Amino acid sequence: MSTTHLSPTFQLAGNLSVNRVGYGAMKLTGPGVWGPPSNPEEAIAVLREAIALGVNHIDTSDFYGPHTVNQLIRQALHPYPKDLVIVTKVGARRGPDRSWPRALSKDDITAAIYDNLRNLGLETLDVVNLRVGAVEEPLQESIAEPFGVLADLRSQGLVRHLGLSNVTPAQLTEAQSIAPVVCIQNHYNLVHRADDGFLDACAAQGIAFVPFFPLGGFQPLQSSALQECADQLAATPMQIALAWLLQRSPNILLIPGTSSLAHLKENIAAATLHLPPAIIDKLNNLAHQ
Ligand SMILES: NC(=O)c1ccc[n+]([C@@H]2O[C@H](COP(=O)([O-])OP(=O)(O)OC[C@H]3O[C@@H](n4cnc5c(N)ncnc54)[C@H](OP(=O)(O)O)[C@@H]3O)[C@@H](O)[C@H]2O)c1
Repeated sequence: MSTTHLSPTFQLAGNLSVNRVGYGAMKLTGPGVWGPPSNPEEAIAVLREAIALGVNHIDTSDFYGPHTVNQLIRQALHPYPKDLVIVTKVGARRGPDRSWPRALSKDDITAAIYDNLRNLGLETLDVVNLRVGAVEEPLQESIAEPFGVLADLRSQGLVRHLGLSNVTPAQLTEAQSIAPVVCIQNHYNLVHRADDGFLDACAAQGIAFVPFFPLGGFQPLQSSALQECADQLAATPMQIALAWLLQRSPNILLIPGTSSLAHLKENIAAATLHLPPAIIDKLNNLAHQ
């Protein structure tokens, strides 16, 4: 594994470049990714501070809340900075029991695009990911139909670029026969590395790989080895986890989620850390598979 991939930016598409450290907005809700956050003022402050610290890539979805996260983004940041890239996703909706059923019919996808446009206050969405599988595992199935619907909406000018989430390499290939794909958003972090090969294949094609749960998700990563590495570099375990991802491959874009200003600052500062080879080796041994 190389340790030299420290370019601060990545070109998502011909006319679209983002800083590799972005922000994932899912945490800006109440418990269970439902309803408004307990402290909306801090949520707005987090979004504004992210931009002030150089973040120009925010990951969201209208099904966070639902609607509340996009509405907060609009409230905090609209009119948006020119270089801000908001990436959203469709393919699920929320049940009244706070569940996340898939929503991949033509009507579901079309309605989700219009919900995102309305709640974000945009006429065109920069990037939309089609979220296919559940969080646990991608599903082996054809995505030609739902991706075709999304590609049509792109042709109508409602979306600039397309991505995929919770997918397999075969699903990427199938989608690419329909329309270009600029990013993959799958579950990946220091210990969850089932997508190592997929990530490298995306890098070879110049496609961004945007790991969700970069810090481990709802229960952030914890291990004595991670703590030891952090102590050695006078950093925090979460900064080590993020720096490892940045050094793992130049096509990785980070979208760590936080509702805390202090954590936001800590996470963005991880971009300045350099992990020496001995630390990388130690961290590589933490993979679960
Ligand atoms: N495509 C999909 O299916 C999918 C699924 C899940 C998530 N996502 C996207 O991926 C983004 C990131 O995922 P995520 O937020 O679920 O997980 P994550 O980034 O791996 O971890 C977030 C958790 O880590 C905590 N945290 C953040 N920074 C920290 C720090 N410096 N020190 C200690 N704890 C820290 C947060 O709590 P605090 O709020 O207390 O900081 C939160 O509990 C989401 O925002 C969302 O946009 C996509």
